[in-house]
Amino acid sequence: MNEAIRPGAETSLQAVSPPQLSVVVPTFNECDNVVTLLRRLETALAGVAWEVIFVDDNSPDGTWDVVRGLARQDIRVRCIRRIGRRGLSGACIEGILASSAPCAAVIDADLQHDETQLPKMLALLQGSEFDLVVGSRYVEGGSADSFNKQRAGASAFATEIARRVLRVRIADPMSGFFMIRRDRFEQLAPQLSTQGFKILLDIVATARGGLRIKEIPYSFGSRLHGESKLDSMVVLDFLGLVLAKLTNDAVSLRFLMFAMVGSIGVFVHFAGLFIALRGFDLPFAVAQGFGAVSAMTSNFILNNFLTYRDQRLKGWAILRGLVIFYLVCGVGLAANVGVAFSVYAQEPIWWLAGAAGALMGVVWNYAMSGLFVWRKR
Ligand code: GDD
Ligand code: MN
Repeated sequence: MNEAIRPGAETSLQAVSPPQLSVVVPTFNECDNVVTLLRRLETALAGVAWEVIFVDDNSPDGTWDVVRGLARQDIRVRCIRRIGRRGLSGACIEGILASSAPCAAVIDADLQHDETQLPKMLALLQGSEFDLVVGSRYVEGGSADSFNKQRAGASAFATEIARRVLRVRIADPMSGFFMIRRDRFEQLAPQLSTQGFKILLDIVATARGGLRIKEIPYSFGSRLHGESKLDSMVVLDFLGLVLAKLTNDAVSLRFLMFAMVGSIGVFVHFAGLFIALRGFDLPFAVAQGFGAVSAMTSNFILNNFLTYRDQRLKGWAILRGLVIFYLVCGVGLAANVGVAFSVYAQEPIWWLAGAAGALMGVVWNYAMSGLFVWRKR
């Protein structure tokens, strides 16, 4: 035995045997739930060598601090504190990749999932008949009674789309509760989307029928403390994921949203131009400049709240980002006009040249603002 690992506290003795199961728990503002969850995992997993990795996106309520405290007392507990990033899927992926057991489970921190199913899920995976076991609300014996009508409807609708469009055949692809064999996950990981929250759907769709899946029923309970983080924006995330999977990742949700914001900007531009000309009697060149600045500013704000809301700039970073965004768009405009000009010179079709220029502009703006304005820290 390694000199550094002396037999002592019961926890460190258990930790000497490598874990069979890594439990990954994404957290955002769950400080009142994590202690209870850990106690329940301890009870449910008695007799199993396990570890738990909490992945916290720098929760304002200090969840990471509470987890850190737990980790100091129990070597099976680890905490990943991510800064400047948000997103359930990304957190789960990072947690699984940071773990080492041959099987990895994902479970919510708020105790809505049923941790007593974990040993059964593990046994199913270890039987090597399955690659993925899903905690399902929609198979015989499962339920989602805590859902209100609206949420139940949305869940059923999304499941139907996943079935028809992505040919995902399981009953509950929207579940956030599952266990997967590490080797299979590592193969799929590079193709998974870190944006959004439907990681299970992503895994199953990306594998294209290549996973042997077992669904077991569980009852989706009520939240212990705190509130749900899923807002109406998850609809966009969901559609984006479907689109990305359908087009083999050629079209990303971000690009579509960026382009959509850009087309809203066209309207803002004309409104600004009109107001400056008619309302303030400004000379045309000044009014046009005013329209352009208004459009860039509103594009920046919308992108910060929609397209890049998982990396939203805050405080002074907003001003800095805005200035860089102006620069990026300025060059983008030059590229737009340049391309339109050369297309027009070869083929004098005004709308074709205009469209080519606009496409050049949006691709440039998208690529450059991803690099310089909302760059991943
Ligand atoms: N790290 C991180 N970052 N964790 C997050 C984030 C985030 O941006 N957003 C949410 N979480 C954590 C929460 O703290 C919680 O532990 C878990 O992810 C689920 O979030 P909830 O806000 O409780 O979601 P829900 O209860 O409305 O929906 C859950 O259950 C559904 C049904 O199984 C999610 O698991 C859904 O994906 C799932 O469809
Ligand atoms: Mn929840």
